[in-house]
Amino acid sequence: MDTKANGLSGLLKHLIVKTILYTFTLIVAHLAKSFLLLPRLDANRDSSQRGVGEGSEFVSYPKDPLLSGVGGCSSAKEDLYYGVVLAMKRPDAFFGRKTVSTPQFFLLHGPPGTGKTMLATAAAAEAGVPLLSLNASNLESKWYGDTPRILDKVFRDARERYSPCVLFFDEIDSIGRRRNEMDCASSYTLKCELLRNLDTLKGSPVCVVACTNCPGSLDPALRRRFAKEVRVGLPDENERLSILEAITVEERWNKMRRGKVLKEVSRLTSGYSGSDLASLYSSVKVERMKANLDMVLSSPSSTALPPLCLRQWMEGMKGEKGMIRDTK
Ligand SMILES: Nc1ncnc2c1ncn2[C@@H]1O[C@H](COP(=O)(O)OP(=O)(O)OP(=O)(O)O)[C@@H](O)[C@H]1O
Ligand SMILES: [Mg+2]
Repeated sequence: MDTKANGLSGLLKHLIVKTILYTFTLIVAHLAKSFLLLPRLDANRDSSQRGVGEGSEFVSYPKDPLLSGVGGCSSAKEDLYYGVVLAMKRPDAFFGRKTVSTPQFFLLHGPPGTGKTMLATAAAAEAGVPLLSLNASNLESKWYGDTPRILDKVFRDARERYSPCVLFFDEIDSIGRRRNEMDCASSYTLKCELLRNLDTLKGSPVCVVACTNCPGSLDPALRRRFAKEVRVGLPDENERLSILEAITVEERWNKMRRGKVLKEVSRLTSGYSGSDLASLYSSVKVERMKANLDMVLSSPSSTALPPLCLRQWMEGMKGEKGMIRDTK
């Protein structure tokens, strides 16, 4: 009987000690996790928390270029002027009742380097409103549950703190691809949350502009929310001329001569996108600097450099080519 009682009290003691040890270990692990280990193990945790907390890294106040600084793309510029710039300047006239579908969702699509990102930024600059940019890299967090919270927070800020404003999704296909059974849980949730959040904007003075190279890969439910799809294609000869004029605006040269040279360059650059033309211009400028090294090193101003001639542009074209293939 005594031995039995001793055995029972021994077991009880053992259980009590085990419970105390277990509780103690839990407390120490929790403290270590909260104060010591996690902040060191993951440098991104802070920024992720900030994303949920402040959201300020999503916001910018672009000043330039304005829409006039974007060459060509006349129909896209017109659509953005009426649908975004005017809407931002006169929100009362555009964003009335919640049930009325307003022209506030724009999807810009087309081949790479044709000026889509530039157009979206220029529209916000022209309207003088904040631009809230969302993309896969600033949304994604390895912390479970952070991403939907960040998304919620940015949309709430767009509606309540920064409106009127432009909500901008560059390369929207990186987060808005067609849902399928291969999606991991977090990516699937993000897409559903995005759709839900987009619906909360109805009637708020917020314009949504998204860009993509492959509109066909977007989730149909996402795509249908973009009331207006604007194709930004490769520029034709006249548009190339207008892009060349926009990107060489700081060149100081005779107007007539400039017109002649740029017209010829635009004729010779079939298949070039806006960004091909911009990189052609950069490489031609580098060659001009190389050829005038003494002048570059002695004079602080680049206006002293001789104007670019057709031969220099043609030399530049040898090293480049219109590499962009159109995507539908
Ligand atoms: N229409 C344009 N007018 C003036 N510059 C342009 C134009 N299009 C492109 N550029 C030049 O090319 C650069 C890249 O353009 P942008 O990033 O807007 O292209 P994109 O269409 O967004 O390309 P992607 O689809 O690859 O993201 C711009 O910063 C600008 O220097
Ligand atoms: Mg872009």
